[in-house]
Amino acid sequence: MKYIFRLEKVKYKDILNIEKLNIKKDKVTCILGESGSGKSTLLKLLNNLISLDEGSIYYKDKDILEINPIDLRRQVIMLSQNPVIFEGNIRDNLNLALEFKEKENESDEKLKEYLEIANLKKPLDNDAKKLSGGEKQRLALARALLSDGQVYLLDEPSSSLDDETEKFVIESIVNFTKQSNKTVIMVTHSIDIAEKYGEEIINLYKGGITNE
Ligand SMILES: Nc1ncnc2c1ncn2[C@@H]1O[C@H](COP(=O)(O)OP(=O)(O)OP(=O)(O)O)[C@@H](O)[C@H]1O
Ligand SMILES: [Mg+2]
Repeated sequence: MKYIFRLEKVKYKDILNIEKLNIKKDKVTCILGESGSGKSTLLKLLNNLISLDEGSIYYKDKDILEINPIDLRRQVIMLSQNPVIFEGNIRDNLNLALEFKEKENESDEKLKEYLEIANLKKPLDNDAKKLSGGEKQRLALARALLSDGQVYLLDEPSSSLDDETEKFVIESIVNFTKQSNKTVIMVTHSIDIAEKYGEEIINLYKGGITNE
């Protein structure tokens, strides 16, 4: 199987209208497009958080409407543009990802590894609500990666970061997911990031795809 997702004649309200789109398995695909072009909407469709009005989406050659949404979301992990940070400390927030997968809590060593991947240098006991915006974003990223899916849908995972931290974090995500043969579909505002790390690039323009 070459493609993890296939979209055919997909319409969602007057927001998206995609004739055909194939997303390759085990690759990094970057999605570019101006604000309001439908990038977040596309990711939500891939996770079945919203339902399309027309057309079909196939995940591993199976119509996503025929896949139990909980099962789908255990495999296809979404990091939303405005991730939720829960009450409690950093450790609690990371362990929540494992609860959803019905797995035991991880050792502090393991949790720290994931914080390192996300370049968040804070003790596990720190209050998560008191982190800065960019730190919360990196905590949510660490939590998403810890969920151990097969596909990661990352909606602007580095939008609150300075250029240097952004490069480090994206490089780290790409290394991590390459080592473990995962698929990454990442929205980014940065053409530089898309050109450097995107093995495939999707350009959205007013809900359609301009070129691939
Ligand atoms: N549930 C909804 N109902 C109606 N309109 C919506 C809904 N969700 C999003 N929209 C609209 O659809 C368009 C695309 O939204 P979307 O969030 O996908 O854009 P985006 O490309 O992610 O933008 P940004 O770069 O600002 O995050 C916007 O005009 C938005 O206002
Ligand atoms: Mg968006």
